[in-house]
Amino acid sequence: MLGNFEYYNPTKLYFGKESLSFLGKELANYGNVVMLSYGGGSIKRNGIYDKVVAILKEAGKTIVEDPGVMPNPTIEKLMEGVERARNNNVDLILAVGGGSVCDYAKGVAASVHCTGDPWTKYYLNQEEPTCKVLPVGCVLTMVGTGSEMNGGSVITNHATNLKIGKVFGAELMPKFAVMNPEFTFSIPQYQMVAGIFDIMSHLMEQYFSDTDDNTTDYIIEGLMRSLIQSSMVAINDPHNYEARSNIMWTATWALNTLLKKGKTTDWEVHMIGHAVGAHTGATHGMTLSAVSLPYYRYIMPYGREKFVRFAMEVWGVHVCGCHGGGTLDVQTQNAVALKGLEVMEMWMKQIGVAMNLTSLGVTPDMIEGIADSTVLGGGYKVLTRDEVVKILRDSL
Ligand code: NZQ
Ligand code: ZN
Repeated sequence: MLGNFEYYNPTKLYFGKESLSFLGKELANYGNVVMLSYGGGSIKRNGIYDKVVAILKEAGKTIVEDPGVMPNPTIEKLMEGVERARNNNVDLILAVGGGSVCDYAKGVAASVHCTGDPWTKYYLNQEEPTCKVLPVGCVLTMVGTGSEMNGGSVITNHATNLKIGKVFGAELMPKFAVMNPEFTFSIPQYQMVAGIFDIMSHLMEQYFSDTDDNTTDYIIEGLMRSLIQSSMVAINDPHNYEARSNIMWTATWALNTLLKKGKTTDWEVHMIGHAVGAHTGATHGMTLSAVSLPYYRYIMPYGREKFVRFAMEVWGVHVCGCHGGGTLDVQTQNAVALKGLEVMEMWMKQIGVAMNLTSLGVTPDMIEGIADSTVLGGGYKVLTRDEVVKILRDSL
């Protein structure tokens, strides 16, 4: 394991079919006024809204309605939420939705009692809150981001074509999250598979860095295998509880701060994906799937042995009875590594994620602008702007 680290995660999870029944008890820990933040209406259609409101009323809470959090939440919406929470002296923000609603709730919670412009302070300058923050709870209805158990808050600013994530500290991680896999049954297939690829990307972007023998990499391989297996079940049988519960649990562990401990990590696919999202408004997971294969094929030579291990341990590619890439010559290593990516491509096509940027509305004349919005970094290879342009062109 590399470096020194501290591990602390304060989010309490209620998981399973009966998990919402714990909400009433949990609400007793907070003040009277609850801002109920949610998205564009899916929770009204699938009945989750009625269930949550009944529990809030039973607990004697005053409900401040805060609807309309859009996918890829904007800074304008965040400011509207701050105003609403201020005007109503809100004690708790209850986010009912996916990553967008949970991320938004954290941004609002960090800003209600603070002065200064949240966009500049938290997202552009990556500062920490210097004021009282509100507690956030999350009833998760869409799986992928891990927002239910992390401090991440990704906000889009269309005026500047920037989509930036701020990873807040423990005080802004949700105090609790309710995770009922049945709540995810109504997610449209497109969103479900986007979420599945988002999870895969979180796992890959922590896996593809460093060369030491690291416990985290073995955990990630297990999570990837579980995700691949469950995804194949869920695309054919979206109401399969076993598969949906495995996907939900894998998503949480993929990005709840555990895996990155002792790893340098990568995150360049997310940086490119966020830039694509800022320019197109496309679904997060699809912005990642559209650029992943060109990206990984490009950086493979810089982390060849890890790609060989990925091919063998995750995708079941085997050659000559050897175990581990170290004993193979470079030519064979390249072949095995590329075979692994080829099998991954087959899986991506099978589950039905976006395979190129064109399908997300990106045209060649947008490439330079997207590259300008991309934060440069990387794991095995730190990209230059020209290399980002090449990967974007290869992804069209
Ligand atoms: O708005 P409603 O009507 O609720 O519909 C939503 C939305 O259109 C729908 N949906 C959610 N649950 C549903 C449902 N439809 C039917 N039944 C249900 N049970 O799904 C759509 C997408 O929801 P959204 O919350 O946007 O999806 P997701 O969870 O993928 O969140 C994406 C956002 O999270 C950020 C992304 O960048 C993006 O802004 N991320 C947050 C991260 C974090 N906190 O650490 C990390 C991620 O890498 C990611 O960047
Ligand atoms: Zn993501």
